[in-house]
Amino acid sequence: MSDLNGKIALVTGASRGIGKAIALALADAGADVAFTFLSSKESAEALAEEIRSKGRKANAYQSNASDFSQANELVQKIIQEFGKLDILVNNAGITKDGLLLRMSEQDWDAVIGTNLKSVFNFTKAVYRPMMSQQSGKIINITSIVGITGNAGQANYAASKAGILGFTKSVAKELASRNIQVNAVAPGFVDTDMTAKLTDSQKEAILKVIPMRRTAKPEEIAAVVRFLASSEANYVTGQVLCVDGGMVM
Ligand SMILES: NC(=O)c1ccc[n+]([C@@H]2O[C@H](COP(=O)([O-])OP(=O)(O)OC[C@H]3O[C@@H](n4cnc5c(N)ncnc54)[C@H](OP(=O)(O)O)[C@@H]3O)[C@@H](O)[C@H]2O)c1
Repeated sequence: MSDLNGKIALVTGASRGIGKAIALALADAGADVAFTFLSSKESAEALAEEIRSKGRKANAYQSNASDFSQANELVQKIIQEFGKLDILVNNAGITKDGLLLRMSEQDWDAVIGTNLKSVFNFTKAVYRPMMSQQSGKIINITSIVGITGNAGQANYAASKAGILGFTKSVAKELASRNIQVNAVAPGFVDTDMTAKLTDSQKEAILKVIPMRRTAKPEEIAAVVRFLASSEANYVTGQVLCVDGGMVM
């Protein structure tokens, strides 16, 4: 559990949900944690305090993950403040669901920008620093929907499928530099993102989960913590589905 002692992690979109659970899990394993949020300042400050109370360093940064220059400046700032960066978790994400027939260009751009371009932004920003230190872990949060597709989520599924191709390509680029790049594909997790689904949508989803239950954010975070640890040093370019058996 203390494998991440001395490591510095950056988690995007950690004010709530899965990102928050990841930030806490990495801190519990010994890492100092920098994390971003878009608008939930109060919850972000509360999380930073919670991590500090565990004896770890923590800073919350308000930053729009879809903005290329903001991401680049932020990574430089974090490296100055924390001394280095060992682990990047690209977690920030949104949904703007609707059948393609009704999907606006804005809904497409917003989802691709926040979910996919953000992964490019932050990975590019850590690329050189991680190459120079000859080590690093990059973990991208995708979704099983990126593998299976889902009616009403063409934008979301495209963004998550894009993350898969990106993860495997960058894993190949960085493998010889001792930097492992992997993706975690959650199924249905209890967070604000899924709270907006209707009861009938939730019932339909439960029917197709072999384990017949949804995931807790902590169950996704545990897998991220594993991939961030030295126990996963020989794992790269992989997509780990954490979905109660939905995708086999
Ligand atoms: N929940 C699921 O069932 C599920 C399943 C598969 C994959 N995922 C993926 O898991 C990740 C986390 O999802 P979640 O369910 O935890 O979502 P959530 O509860 O809605 O939380 C989203 C987080 O992302 C942040 N965020 C949103 N837009 C941002 C932006 N432009 N820049 C920076 N941060 C931004 C939010 O910050 P604010 O609080 O400031 O808004 C918040 O911290 C997403 O990538 C999602 O696609 C979720």
